[in-house]
Amino acid sequence: MYRAAFFASLALPLFAATETPTFTRDIAPILFNNCTSCHRPGEIGPMPLTSYKEIRPWAKAIQASVQTRKMPPWHADPHYGKFANDSRLKDSDVALITAWAKAGAPEGDPKLLPALPQFAEGWQIGKPDAIYSIPEFTLSNSGYDEQMNFVVETNLKEDVWVEAIEIRPGNRKVVHHAHVWLESATPAAPKPKAASTTPRVSYTMREGTRAFARPDAPVIDDGCSHPNGGMWPGASPSELGSILASFVPGKAPEQWPTGIAKKIPAGSKLKFTIHYSKTTGKEEKDITSVGLRFAKQPPTQELRRIDLHNTAFLIPANDENHVVTACYTFQEDADVLSYLAHMHYRGKSMKFEAIYPDGRMETLIDIPKYDFEWQTKYLNATPVRIPKGTRIKLTATFDNSPNNRYNPDPSKVIRWGDNTVDEMMDGWFEFVTPKTQ
Ligand code: HEC
Repeated sequence: MYRAAFFASLALPLFAATETPTFTRDIAPILFNNCTSCHRPGEIGPMPLTSYKEIRPWAKAIQASVQTRKMPPWHADPHYGKFANDSRLKDSDVALITAWAKAGAPEGDPKLLPALPQFAEGWQIGKPDAIYSIPEFTLSNSGYDEQMNFVVETNLKEDVWVEAIEIRPGNRKVVHHAHVWLESATPAAPKPKAASTTPRVSYTMREGTRAFARPDAPVIDDGCSHPNGGMWPGASPSELGSILASFVPGKAPEQWPTGIAKKIPAGSKLKFTIHYSKTTGKEEKDITSVGLRFAKQPPTQELRRIDLHNTAFLIPANDENHVVTACYTFQEDADVLSYLAHMHYRGKSMKFEAIYPDGRMETLIDIPKYDFEWQTKYLNATPVRIPKGTRIKLTATFDNSPNNRYNPDPSKVIRWGDNTVDEMMDGWFEFVTPKTQ
């Protein structure tokens, strides 16, 4: 009796563990749902993974990529936060893929093959209600990267609310990142100037379209030890009310939960700021576009965004682990929807911490292995309440050593600049003002 029960309880797991997983029954559902969004023709994955024939030669590489958690790409530490777009595979899926690859990657019964997911061609946000494009731009093949501005009329006759925005680079080989800003038809009334006894100093300079820190600008690595958190003396992080959308490698289009939308007033213009990299050595052409999907009805909450940054850091040559902080205190309650870390090639990690008014400290998100190619917008599974008076601390590390395979030149001292060969230290927050109950 005892013995029978013992074997009965073991029977199921033993059976499952010894049965070889097959492609059509066990593996295709995992790979089709988690990999083909990028690994299909025309997308960013280097090879399509849409059939047994395509997948079979990659079995060992697939096993390695899921075991090391290199694929699907996800760079946040699972200990902190809960994210709606968390793409990590379940441990049981990783175990199935491993067992299948070890068993020689058998195909199994072709009749069990599931259908491939349906993907929208072209625009990921669905059919846009309006599309605006820059005039064709020709990028020369010599000199520095270009930081270009283009202003495009919307010709909107009335205010619209947008619930999804997608920037589509015309030429992905050279569009390194792109932002679209809102320029309102009627310029805002000039703000009264605060009386100031100190002369205005500019800490940045320009060379062509490249802006960067003056070599003699003050150095503030520990922004949190400074009154304004690590920005240039006298500056403070301002809310980027006018930024509409951003494209950076690996980032999905802007789409917000139902009821949250961004307003575009009648007559607005759209300003595209596009950073072009001269990576191909050839003259290149680009027509980048932005697509807007309108909300069917006015939102209950307006989307807002603030970008925190340290602009005054200095990363010594060859420094493998240079720490830079930035701090900012929220002046009102906020429900935070997403975070994004933005650095360039030397960015190594970034942590976002909240120090609440009662002194409690919490890690909101930790990105221990920042990857310039994967600037994911991390969407909170539920909005995170940041009460008024909460201090946000961003801690970044930079690797300016030869061990960093992306590092263009470890012998250079690195400061803030908008070119990729310079650096940035930015943490973005999208938020809404909490509903009053
Ligand atoms: C968000 C897009 C995306 C998703 C989702 C994705 N991949 Fe990839 N994959 C890429 C890109 C881009 C590369 C090439 C650059 C790189 O290695 O980072 C790549 C490279 C690979 C490689 C090449 C070998 C290696 O490790 O460098 C393998 C194998 C791979 N992916 C397997 C998978 C599998 C299996 C899944 C699903 C479980 C998956 N990928 C999901 C974008 C993606």
